[in-house]
Formats: sequence, structure tokens, C-alpha cells
Amino acid sequence: MNYQHNVQYHSLKNKIVAITGGASGIGEELVRAYVNQGARVAFVDLNREAGEKLAQELNCLFLLCDVTNIEQLKSAFAQIASQLGDVDILINNAGSDEHHQLKDLTEDYFNHSINVNLRHQLFAIQAVVPGMTKKGGGSIINMGSIIWMRGRPGRVCYSLSKAAIHGFTRSLSQELGVHGIRVNSLVPGAIRTAKQDAMWAKLNPAAVSQFIELQALKIRLDATHCARLALFLGSEESCGCTGQDFIVDAGLSVN
Ligand SMILES: NC(=O)c1ccc[n+]([C@@H]2O[C@H](COP(=O)([O-])OP(=O)(O)OC[C@H]3O[C@@H](n4cnc5c(N)ncnc54)[C@H](O)[C@@H]3O)[C@@H](O)[C@H]2O)c1
Repeated sequence: MNYQHNVQYHSLKNKIVAITGGASGIGEELVRAYVNQGARVAFVDLNREAGEKLAQELNCLFLLCDVTNIEQLKSAFAQIASQLGDVDILINNAGSDEHHQLKDLTEDYFNHSINVNLRHQLFAIQAVVPGMTKKGGGSIINMGSIIWMRGRPGRVCYSLSKAAIHGFTRSLSQELGVHGIRVNSLVPGAIRTAKQDAMWAKLNPAAVSQFIELQALKIRLDATHCARLALFLGSEESCGCTGQDFIVDAGLSVN
């Protein structure tokens, strides 16, 4: 996409970047954007077909991994370090926005939702911090969501995971700042992806125009809007920023 050529961050060239959930949706755009900056990108995903196709197209490293399996996640990060070197930039992107009612909540579903949306972020951070510490710094970007700010119904588990990301981002920024490691969260609003298109078409086709009515900016956001901010947060241009939440929602959460 053209926007990727508008800004070139020299500090991203040859940086080693690890992205979870990079095979499709916002993650795919993050992979494309960082490759375009000359970074050396590795991504993990459980979608083998899409992952292998993207890695072949962009000549980057794909590892098949279910991030809810912490042993698999640790092994994938060990492989990234041995094949590319210690990670400079980690983007904790994998997640799954599923609708669920309180009445249907089971212990298994609760655990699944936390595992797919929250737990892996901490273990991925744990895996990259020793290497970043050796290198004298790094940038960690945790994908949050405005979901909990808007208090939407039917998403209690997803909301609680995404709210928790704000808490641990602030805490870890203090714990890791001494090593030069920055920890921020990137907080998307209503971002158009293939999965979101399919979900809203099924649930409520009118909801998409409702998003735009509620937003201050009357544009349909897509993954490129998130990628622009993710490049900035990974680059040296954001060297003074840590412990913060950076919202990309065209003003939706302010309404
Ligand atoms: N799209 C939006 O409107 C929106 C809004 C707010 C926050 N977000 C957040 O942005 C991130 C990306 O969302 P998206 O819309 O691109 O989602 P998506 O479902 O389109 O893509 C998610 C990617 O993660 C992968 N993935 C899912 N579960 C996995 C697992 N267990 N192990 C490994 N990979 C797994 C999927 O295969 C897919 O490639 C998520 O953290 C999501 O919560 C998205």
C-alpha cells in the first residue's frame, strides 16, 4: 500500500521484529509494514496456510504456533532468537474477538478467552526481555481494544482481557524501563478486516454504518491505520514514550 512509502524510519532497518497472529487481519498488515521498512520479521500464527503464503511472498520467517499453548510459544520464540537473533521489537497482536453472553459463560470458555487474548502476551514478553536487556533496549507493543472503554454488552471475557492489558503495560513499563525497554499498548477501535466484515455481516450489517456515525472522523478504519502507529511505536521516533495507551479509533471511544 502506498502509505508505507510515505514514511521511512531509518531506525527500523534490520531490526528484528516478532509479531504474534501475523498471518491475517491487522497482524498481516503489521508484517507487511515492517518488512517494507527493511526490518527482519518473524511471525507466529496457527493458520499454517495463510502464514506460509505470506512468509513466502515477503521472504520472512513464519512459525506455526498456537499462542494459547505456552510451551509452543516459548519454543517459537527460542527459534526466532536462534534463526534471526534477539528480538528488538515485539508486537503482541494475536487475539480473538468473540461474542458471548454472561449466562453462557463456563469455566472452560473463561479460560479459553483469557488464554487467547491475554496470557500469551505476558509469556511472549518474558521470552524476549533477556535478549532486549542484552541489547540495551527494545520496544514492546501490546494490542488492546477500546471495547472496555465503551462498555459493550456480550463481550465480558474479551473486555476483561483487553482492560487487563492496560494494567500490565503500565506495570511492565516501570519494571523494564531500567533496561531501556519501552512497553506501550496500541488500542484499535473498529478496524475493518476480513474477519470483522464476516462477523458484522452475520450479526448486524447496519452496525458498520453506526460505527462511522459514532466516530468523530467519518472514515472506515482499516489495518493500515494501526500499522502506521505500530511503526512509530517500534521506531526511535517514539523513544520518549512508554507505559502509554495509543488509541486508533477515529474518535469512537470519545463519543
Ligand atoms: N479488528 C478490530 O476491529 C479490532 C479492534 C480492537 C482490537 N483488535 C485487536 O487487534 C488484534 C488483531 O485483531 P484482528 O482484527 O486482526 O483479528 P483477526 O482475527 O482478523 O486476526 C487474528 C490473527 O491471529 C491469529 N490467531 C488467533 N488465535 C491464535 C492463536 N491461538 N495462536 C496463534 N495465532 C492466533 C489468527 O489466525 C489471525 O491470523 C487482536 O488482539 C484484537 O483483539 C482488533
